[in-house]
Amino acid sequence: MEQQNAKEITRVVGGLRGEIEIPGDKSVSHRSVMLAGLCDTPVRISNYLHAADCLSTAAAMEALGVSVRWSDDTTLTVTGRGFDGLTEPAGILDAGDSGTMLRLMMGLLAPQPFLSTFTGDAALYRRPMGRVIAPLSEMGARIAGRAGGKYLPITILPAEQKLHGIQYKMPMASAQVKSAILLAGLRAEGETMVVEPYPSRDHTERMLRAFGVEIRQDGTRVACRAARKLSAPDRIDVPGDISSAAFWLVAASVIPGSDLLLKGVGVNPTRTGVLDVLRDMGAHIERLHERESGGEPIADIRVRSAKLHGVSFGGAIIPRLIDEIPILAVAALFADGDTKITGAEELRVKETNRLHAVAAEYNKLAPCVEELADGLVIRGGAKIHHAECFSYDDHRMAMSLAVAGAAGDGVTIENPECVDISYPAFYKTMLDLQR
Ligand code: S3P
Repeated sequence: MEQQNAKEITRVVGGLRGEIEIPGDKSVSHRSVMLAGLCDTPVRISNYLHAADCLSTAAAMEALGVSVRWSDDTTLTVTGRGFDGLTEPAGILDAGDSGTMLRLMMGLLAPQPFLSTFTGDAALYRRPMGRVIAPLSEMGARIAGRAGGKYLPITILPAEQKLHGIQYKMPMASAQVKSAILLAGLRAEGETMVVEPYPSRDHTERMLRAFGVEIRQDGTRVACRAARKLSAPDRIDVPGDISSAAFWLVAASVIPGSDLLLKGVGVNPTRTGVLDVLRDMGAHIERLHERESGGEPIADIRVRSAKLHGVSFGGAIIPRLIDEIPILAVAALFADGDTKITGAEELRVKETNRLHAVAAEYNKLAPCVEELADGLVIRGGAKIHHAECFSYDDHRMAMSLAVAGAAGDGVTIENPECVDISYPAFYKTMLDLQR
């Protein structure tokens, strides 16, 4: 193993203590710069996630003719040229590692009268894009992708005629697919409706409403019609990302002597499955100072160490904690009894195959994880050993391994720098909380 490409995390003695400002929500950051770029008045966005995924989206919007001015790392002013003002990019749009950027931008660009081509990193080339290309093509978009329209690279040909609305029954709960279809629906003839098996995160719907678009919502059905323009709010304050807060929720729960205050965390109910599961496991979690910011509920969250016990979960809660399963599996490692997670097959098509990655790497720390076709069984309470573990270049795997090592007997993480995708300050924050 290359030492310069590995990070040593040591066991934390005495707990993690202090306050943390949680970095901006990744999902909300992507959407804020995209929608602001469709307006003709400046929108000031604060607490934008200054991390690789969201920087790809800001760069793509600039390539489409939108002005993006940074006041500091997390504050930017986005000025578009109106709803019809995007222009053909001179080069290829690079989504990097970001499935959200790619899938939402495809929905945004499918109706446009110009050509756009996307690339991304090696991991993104392996992720399924047919799930977005198929419904957009049904709407009349002309999109070509490798392997018959399944994978990157992807080219969207200039739309020859106006797209038409569809009623689309999604085979999986996915906010990315839902959002891509709704964004295309803003420029389609008639009504566009998506129906999900379970509700996924609703940031697109909330933000579209904040931009003056009428969205009809009824359980798992969401519909929109063509908009003539978007009306920009003056500012968008991006809430802290509960998916980033989740690492501290679990770390503080399982490292004895911990007491953390996580500030400004987004607590949109479509994202709070992690709080529900941790509570069921016996975690000490309090929501304080609940308030609203930019159409999204936020709160400060206090978490203190607790003795956790195993639980079973699956079904409708999965989309509400889809990105938190690797870190919830760490909570399960340190809990008494077994935890069983089902209905989570979507984890196989995230930044890496997370069911496989969790089973393979956590079993190096303690042989107690069984991989199911659609989930995991984790036998908690085993002795955790130091091990060398691979991040799979997946930010959430790297941070989960770091928490497991900090609570266990240390860990060496290969390719640790992938945390830059969503939480560049993660390792430094972990050190700061030990002082
Ligand atoms: C996201 C939706 C989820 C999630 C991803 C962000 C979004 O993906 O895993 O990290 O911003 O819409 P799916 O919609 O594919 O489940």
